[in-house]
Amino acid sequence: MTSPTHHPASSDRPANAIPTPQAPPPDILRCAYMEIVVTDLAASRAFYHDVLGLVITEEDEDAIYLRSFEEFIHHNLVLRKGPVAAVAAFSYRVRSPEDLDRAVAFFEELGCRVERRAEGFTKGIGDSVRVEDPLGFPYEFFYDVEHVERLAWRYDLYTPGALVRLDHFNQVTPDVPKAVAYVEDLGFRVTEDIRDSEGTVYAAWMRRKPTVHDTAMTGGDGPRMHHVAFATHEKHNILSICDKLGALRLSNHIERGPGRHGVSNAFYLYLRDPDGHRVEIYTQDYYTGDPDNPVVTWDVHDNQRRDWWGNPVVPSWYTEASLVLDLDGNPQPLVARTDDSEMAVTIGADGFSYTREGQEGEDEDMPSWKQGEYKLGHQL
Ligand SMILES: [Fe+2]
Repeated sequence: MTSPTHHPASSDRPANAIPTPQAPPPDILRCAYMEIVVTDLAASRAFYHDVLGLVITEEDEDAIYLRSFEEFIHHNLVLRKGPVAAVAAFSYRVRSPEDLDRAVAFFEELGCRVERRAEGFTKGIGDSVRVEDPLGFPYEFFYDVEHVERLAWRYDLYTPGALVRLDHFNQVTPDVPKAVAYVEDLGFRVTEDIRDSEGTVYAAWMRRKPTVHDTAMTGGDGPRMHHVAFATHEKHNILSICDKLGALRLSNHIERGPGRHGVSNAFYLYLRDPDGHRVEIYTQDYYTGDPDNPVVTWDVHDNQRRDWWGNPVVPSWYTEASLVLDLDGNPQPLVARTDDSEMAVTIGADGFSYTREGQEGEDEDMPSWKQGEYKLGHQL
């Protein structure tokens, strides 16, 4: 397999796909906000507001509502105090109030638990639908929302690492093709994926807005939340966040990066918040809005797929993720992935990666120093 390949979208619907509802899906505009449960509200406020500079729209004793600089809706992130760190909602904005009726019909036909609240589930947002989706994730849909000041022109308030938009979610789920078929039924389109020559799918990136993704499906034990991503304007803003974390002696929050992704072509940095929730800082992916936008498929053994410069991925990035909650607030049980894991096939004694595929005698296997400290079983 030459990596990556650029090809037309194809619907290779798996045999175990969740049946497509007769009811049409809601018209989803974009990922809009995530509600996460944190165990120490003050510590999370210090991380997301004091360090990362997200703007506080509103706060009380139980929750903090934050937004990015270019946002005009009430919030992009809700930090809610609770006993177990987990995710309470992946929330999408829909095009019209009628799309909430469509969401109810779509998910009821799928046999999912559905709850609609005219007054909303959070401050700043009106009529909303929450569901336990077929993969076990708490998905929310809303249209009605309180508008707040868009701070895009308030350069007097910007910091060097200003977060300007919510960009995407990333979900961990055991069966990626099954997840992709369901999310395609919900109206999403695949932009990129990671596969092997035997047909195993390791991850897929899916969009509604015309960027690389609104959410990604990452293969692993799930349902879990892998990360939530905020965008900066430029690469240097991400470097400034690293510098600030170093200056504050908070570099322990940096899990992976900064670097350039192969998938998405974006510049990235992965952080862990005080509860271990993973946050990506992301910038400069590409436009995907044409109907015939080519799908980019990466070979799982291409060591530039996750990092364009070939830097190794730390094992925690593959193995750790946040629990998600059902609509009663209880953690969803995990289902184990049975397909091969990306970490197992790409690093360690059983795995391999390449930089230049198919050149005989050269670089067929990664040099030991490139696998470095992350080679399983070879830690110092
Ligand atoms: Fe991401």
